[in-house]
Amino acid sequence: MSLIQISNLAVQFSQHKVLKNIDLTFEEGSVTAIVGPSGSGKTTLLRTLNLLQSPSEGTVTVAGITVDAKHISKADVHKIRSQSTMVFQQFNLFKNLTALENVMSPLIYNKLAGFDEAKAIALKVLSDFGLESIADQYPVTLSGGQSQRVSIARAIVAKPKVVLFDEPTSALDPEMVSDVLTTIAQLAQQHITMVIVTHEIEFARQIANNAIFVENGEVIAQGPANKILSTKGTGRIADFVNSLENRVISTPQQTNTSEVVTPRFRLLQSGAN
Ligand SMILES: Nc1ncnc2c1ncn2[C@@H]1O[C@H](COP(=O)(O)OP(=O)(O)OP(=O)(O)O)[C@@H](O)[C@H]1O
Ligand SMILES: [Mg+2]
Repeated sequence: MSLIQISNLAVQFSQHKVLKNIDLTFEEGSVTAIVGPSGSGKTTLLRTLNLLQSPSEGTVTVAGITVDAKHISKADVHKIRSQSTMVFQQFNLFKNLTALENVMSPLIYNKLAGFDEAKAIALKVLSDFGLESIADQYPVTLSGGQSQRVSIARAIVAKPKVVLFDEPTSALDPEMVSDVLTTIAQLAQQHITMVIVTHEIEFARQIANNAIFVENGEVIAQGPANKILSTKGTGRIADFVNSLENRVISTPQQTNTSEVVTPRFRLLQSGAN
């Protein structure tokens, strides 16, 4: 069954059409890798899937709810967002909450569980990820890899239908990449529908069912990941895939592991009013 469908989609910023003529379908339980050159529109496409970016033409349907560019209903956008979460390059953890509180936050904020239940659920997810020992640490004390795994735990804790990843390992030191990829692979085994923008071609070949190649705002190829991401072909896509295979991984500069975001809520202590 298709979980997400986008039809005749376009996104325009002032005069510049950054996405055009996009028709895509994502099946429930599938893992899709999105690849393409810098500036081709990958992030914009991902953001459009959960309406963080409004389309200027076309429709986006997620879990049976359709948003049409011609009349975008806030209520429908809200419904779609409640079905999907996003994992960002820069983690975006709430820096004034502990790892555990970060993971609890979607449950509390969306009133899906009371404090004690949210805590138990969040601890279970952290422990599934092997992160229980850092539950009480604040983001500033976590490594990039730990921060990203906490943000993935936060993304799945409320059991969304789809999780969108935007280059989840590109801000990490090379030695931390594999822990994060392992965590994402763990989710793939649980049949969580995922769409992942990534330059980790080998990883994408292993966990993705499908791949989409985006260039100049258009989907120029889509199909089975092992076919689209093959190094053996000839032409533009194979050249690109080969360039990723052969790239030198540079150590990124140390970045602040958390966005300066103050949540619009406070976690209530158990028993507090
Ligand atoms: N909010 C915005 N306003 C104006 N232009 C934008 C905006 N967001 C993206 N763009 C432009 O849209 C195009 C696609 O950007 P996008 O970030 O989607 O590319 P990308 O494929 O994710 O690139 P990268 O690999 O560098 O992350 C670029 O030309 C970018 O400058
Ligand atoms: Mg991007």
